Amino acid sequence: MNKKVTTSTLLSMKQQGQKITALTAYDASFAKLFDEQGIDVMLIGDSLGMVLQGSEDTLTVTVDDIVYHTRSVRQGTQRAFVIADMPFMSYANSEQTYHNAAKLMAAGASMVKVEGGDWLLETIKGLNQRGVPVCGHLGLTPQSVHVFGGFKVQGRGDLQAEQLLEQAQALAHAGIQMLVLECVPTSLAEKITLAVNIPVIGIGAGAKTDGQILVMHDMFGISANYMPKFSKNYLEQTGDMREAVKSYIEEVQSGAFPGELHSFN
Ligand code: KIV
Repeated sequence: MNKKVTTSTLLSMKQQGQKITALTAYDASFAKLFDEQGIDVMLIGDSLGMVLQGSEDTLTVTVDDIVYHTRSVRQGTQRAFVIADMPFMSYANSEQTYHNAAKLMAAGASMVKVEGGDWLLETIKGLNQRGVPVCGHLGLTPQSVHVFGGFKVQGRGDLQAEQLLEQAQALAHAGIQMLVLECVPTSLAEKITLAVNIPVIGIGAGAKTDGQILVMHDMFGISANYMPKFSKNYLEQTGDMREAVKSYIEEVQSGAFPGELHSFN
């Protein structure tokens, strides 16, 4: 068995310029398939509300949903680093946050992910102090879809870009050990990636981040509703699930994915 991926592995990958590969996963069988192909990180994303449950957004997902799927993914995983999403309103105050993060870690997560900027600084410090590593998530944070007025690219325009850069630095300073950047212009994602000393994983954020993540259903081209511009159907081009994952990993590692077509200006 290859050595388990840890926060130290991911940090040294960033430092050595080695791209980090990530996919969402929700069950043991796919987790095993992804793990065997060499995926570095698996996220039990609250995207499961959309791709598994058929909802319009992620707001219907509960902590117990994520706990159930985290347990399943953990069963199928030997090497990859496992992150669990904290769903909408599950980290609104500190008591709730610690209680819910404890459930996700006990289910098999090695890190929890939270969406948002400045308002999370104390939450991140508190989780770290209690032994819970945290992944931040900035840009198009789907739990705020109704604030944004839809699933829209974020960080366009100098002021918004500056704010996102400052928030990324503040989150890193507070103690996040990884950052997901979703749907932001490539140039901004590059700036943020260079400005923080933690791995930055992009989705719809261009090729200059330290790694890439896709929702597995998008990568297989089987999402029920639509195919986001930033994703690519690897099953179509390979005709086989294992080959599709292998090809995704190779293209992320070589820098071939994402191309211009899958990125925003
Ligand atoms: O919920 C999710 O799957 C995510 C990824 C899109 C990063 O947050």
